[in-house]
This record gives sequence, C-alpha cells and structure tokens, in this order.
Amino acid sequence: MKVGMLTGGGDCPGLNAVIRAVVYKGISHYQDNIYGIYEGWKGLLEGGRVAPLLIDDVVNILNLGGTILKTSRTNPFKRRDGIASIKKSVEKYKLDAVIAVGGEDTLSVADKLYQEGVKVIGIPKTIDNDVSGTDQTFGYDTAVSCATEAIDRVRSTAESHNRVIVVEVMGRHSGWIAVKAGIAGGAHVILVPEFPIDAEEVISKIVKRHARGEQYSVIVVAEGATLKNESGKAKVVTFDHEKDEFGHIKLGGIAHVLSETIREKTGYDCRTVILGHIQRGGTPSAFDRVLATRYGIHAIDLVHQGDFGKMVALRGTQIVATPLTEAMKEVKTIDREFYEIAEVFFG
Ligand code: F6P
Repeated sequence: MKVGMLTGGGDCPGLNAVIRAVVYKGISHYQDNIYGIYEGWKGLLEGGRVAPLLIDDVVNILNLGGTILKTSRTNPFKRRDGIASIKKSVEKYKLDAVIAVGGEDTLSVADKLYQEGVKVIGIPKTIDNDVSGTDQTFGYDTAVSCATEAIDRVRSTAESHNRVIVVEVMGRHSGWIAVKAGIAGGAHVILVPEFPIDAEEVISKIVKRHARGEQYSVIVVAEGATLKNESGKAKVVTFDHEKDEFGHIKLGGIAHVLSETIREKTGYDCRTVILGHIQRGGTPSAFDRVLATRYGIHAIDLVHQGDFGKMVALRGTQIVATPLTEAMKEVKTIDREFYEIAEVFFG
C-alpha cells in the first residue's frame, strides 16, 4: 500500500519515534511505500511537499526531539476549498491511506477527511495530555519530567534566597503538566484552568507557610489558569491577541502577574520562571519513546485491517482503536481527585 504520514500542530517529544515505527513496520512487514507529508496539513495543500520515507531516513531518529516531517498549525478549514484540495493531493499521490499524528485540531481535520471518504488513521500527541479518548498522549511524560526538574532546581535557589518563585508551565485548557510536575516537585500551590483560585487565596496559603518559619515557596501555574481581576472576573493572560489558524491565542505571562501581585501584597522577594517551549523540545523520555512506538505500530496495523476513521489510544496498559470523533468530544481535563492529592501539600 501507499501510506502517507504527517505530524500537525505543536511538536512534542516522541514524534520521530512514531514516524520510525510506522516506517519500519510498514516497509519491513507489509512491504508498504511510506510517504512523508511535510509541515502537517500544509503538505497536502497547494505548494506542499510529499516524499518517500525509507528505513534509512528513520534509522537514527528514535531519541531525537522534534519531527523530521516538520509541523505547522495549518488549518485546511480556513483555506478556500481546503478539504477538496487535500483530497486532490491524496489522489494525485495515489495514497491509499493517511496517518495523521496530532492533537485535537489535527485530528478534527482527519475526521472531516474520513467523512469525505479519505482513509485516515489518527495518532494522538501533545505535551498538554488534553486529548479525549486516550489515557495519555505521548510527549506529556517528557514535559512532566522537564517541568519537575525545573521545579527542583528552582526550589534550591528559592530556599537559599528566601524567595517566592512562580514557575509557569504549558497547559492551554488543562492542568495536567502543572499538577503532575507540581506533585512530583512538591509545589506549595498549583494553579490550573480547571479549578480557579484567586490571588488572595494563593497569598493566604504562602503567608501561613512563611509564618510557620518556611521562608520560601514554589508556586506552579499552568499558562491557561485564570486570575480574577478587581471586578471578580477571571482573566486569561496572553502575550498578544493574535490567533493561530485554529483560533487559539498565544498564552503566557500569568506567572508575572501572580508574582507581582504577591510581591505587592506581601513584600516577599518574588521571581518568575516561564518554561515555555523548553518543555516541548529535546529528547523524549523512555516512556514516550515506547508509547509513540506502540502507537505507530498499531496505526499501521489498523491501516492493513482497513479499520479507518479511528485513532489509536492507550486504555490502561492496552493500545486500542477508538473513533476519531472521541478525540473531539471535549478537552480532557484533570479530575478533582487528582488535584486534591496536590492540595494536601499546599501552604
Ligand atoms: O501544543 C500545545 C501547546 O504546547 C500549548 O500548551 C501552548 O499554549 C501552545 O502549544 C504553544 O504553541 P506555539 O508553539 O504555537 O507557541
């Protein structure tokens, strides 16, 4: 078979591992011709690039961050005749199937194409871990390790200087990275989009802590968490209001706002660390390499079983196939029980 493969949306560690798995099993087991589609959906729109992927191209990429196929946030729905033009490219390159690796945005395009008759399989990825239908996306474990290491490092310097340091991690709609890394790193308060706390509550927790004789605090905040303004309205903090093609604004900077509020109200010496894209780059953890490999193998198997319109997913310890529509049902947010574990250690 001729199988095209693309990576779309924000990159994450493990993308090269998933590409390697599809290429290895596709070529060596099924005698497929695998084609790389470059820069996400852009690769199938006008001016895009599609080229054969051979075992030699992927032999040394397992531990590499990023994606050799490149990626973009190109949204075909935003282009005139975008979906029709992708279908044309699929026909032009005679692709029997397309494997799309991405988060909710990329997978929503995959589902639309499936409804339009293209044979598509999805693979969920994102450091945010917010895709429904799967217990975990790859990339998340590496991001959590990175954030945990950052919290550990910040803790020692915060303690030496008797400072409050606010660490901002990614997590647009959900606090998965914040809570997991916050628990692992022993954060004294964690702010997430799911369960807003206002600055006063954060301050009262750390003031109590400092009154007990602890002279430093580490606070972890997800970029998508909100803080209430004077009129009590929760407000998202953004770098700028420009939106990407899927309508997302660029988040970032809530740590500065929180840190400044704490300094003003308490006089504590406060600092801010925004981890940003450091969490998305670099070599994948062993867990992500293995999860991505299992997803890739399962995806190419689904292609050969003709089980299209599906996404591979982790359920417990098993890899299963679930309808692509599952990924779009809702954003997978953290549950209260998980956050309550973190709360035990607040203050
Ligand atoms: O991939 C998801 C994500 O990591 C979000 O947490 C974050 O808001 C966004 O990507 C940043 O995207 P960009 O790479 O476009 O700045």
